Amino acid sequence: MKKGLKVVTIGGGSSYTPELIEGFINFHKELPINELWLVDIEDGKEKLEIVGNLAKRMVEKAGIPIEIYLSLDRKEALRSADFVTTQFRVGQLAARELDERIPLSHGVLGQETNGPGGLFKALRTIPVILDICREMEEVCPNAWLINFTNPAGMVTEAVFRYSNIQKVVGLCNVPIGMEMGVAKLLDIDHDRVRIDFAGLNHMVFGLNVYVDGVSVKDQVIDLLTDPEKSITMQNIHVMGWEPEFLKALDVLPCPYHHYYYKSGEMLEKELENFKEGGTRAEVVRKLEKDLFNLYKDPNLSIKPPQLEKRGGAYYSESAVRLIHSIYTDRRDIQAVNTMNKGAITGLPYDSAVEVSCMITKDGPKPLAVGELPIAVNGLVQQIKSFERTAIEAAISGNYGKALLAMTINPLVPSDRVARVILNEMLEAHKRYLPQFFS
Ligand code: G6P
Repeated sequence: MKKGLKVVTIGGGSSYTPELIEGFINFHKELPINELWLVDIEDGKEKLEIVGNLAKRMVEKAGIPIEIYLSLDRKEALRSADFVTTQFRVGQLAARELDERIPLSHGVLGQETNGPGGLFKALRTIPVILDICREMEEVCPNAWLINFTNPAGMVTEAVFRYSNIQKVVGLCNVPIGMEMGVAKLLDIDHDRVRIDFAGLNHMVFGLNVYVDGVSVKDQVIDLLTDPEKSITMQNIHVMGWEPEFLKALDVLPCPYHHYYYKSGEMLEKELENFKEGGTRAEVVRKLEKDLFNLYKDPNLSIKPPQLEKRGGAYYSESAVRLIHSIYTDRRDIQAVNTMNKGAITGLPYDSAVEVSCMITKDGPKPLAVGELPIAVNGLVQQIKSFERTAIEAAISGNYGKALLAMTINPLVPSDRVARVILNEMLEAHKRYLPQFFS
């Protein structure tokens, strides 16, 4: 093992970076990072400087010997990295706003990782992640790529199917958020809770729930039939489940399942917000403005609590736990996005799944799930069809494939509506979609 680790974070100017820094500080004894490179693009330079200076103050205050470098030269920054983390948003918040607003203007759900928004985020992001992979091949071919960039499942799958970088793991905070949510429901410590996760990113189910190794799934489902109780995320308007539905489902849905099992109500709520001028992107824009004003304060040297208003809660904890377990060959169990390799029967061998895995120094080893319960298998299959078609569209720039992906998405009502939204979104995002316009 070499002495100090070099970590490179692409999208380092993100408002989420202080989360990651806090995690690296708290875990420094076990995870001896000595170089952290925060990388961004020219358009993100100002944010990078503000957040980078805060990061420097944070490590200084903590007395931790992590040297922080800020860079706009991605390839140079990547040289000899041990871990590369990606948390970038192609087109920044303005693109997210379009992903949310255009579908809503046609009466279709507008969400950044689901439905048409998720498709377009994938179309913009996949070519960029593949560029990053090509650079990694040249300057840090042995590094691990830890991808947080959404849509995390599709982006991760594109990497292992269409690049030579195979040491890749996709990470989302939904699994840890669900475990924290169960701990809160039961009023116990988080580390006593374990959930067997299986499904896809933002489409993951808790097949069983344990406290100290004893199943409490029925008790948790019972608690969640109370409309006052829920497992929430800041970015999703969570509503209570129909009690009989939840009991019959017999597994724990994730907060994103609201978009599928409560599509009518969720759409109504989003349309209401849209008409008042406030989709999630606008809420986040205001939050970001306040956050960056705080970050600028030279007296601030900790992660401000206001960051918890973002949807990415616990993200630092899961990121650092994952990197630590790979680095130390810890062989503990964490839910990540990785190649299925037969763990979930009926999904392609080489598809990304979000599943409980043993985390080793050569990556996640998915735990065998077998068949998903029949009641949820259909939706998971349909979303996987959408994801694979969307990835093919992102790589080929083929209009027909993009239309197919949009149409088979369960949140889009018909091929005609799909075409209208597709055309408008292609035009709106033109500068980030060269593959469709060359
Ligand atoms: C959740 C999701 C993330 C997503 C975030 C959005 O945490 O799991 O994938 O990026 O919400 O939060 P935001 O505050 O940007 O709406």
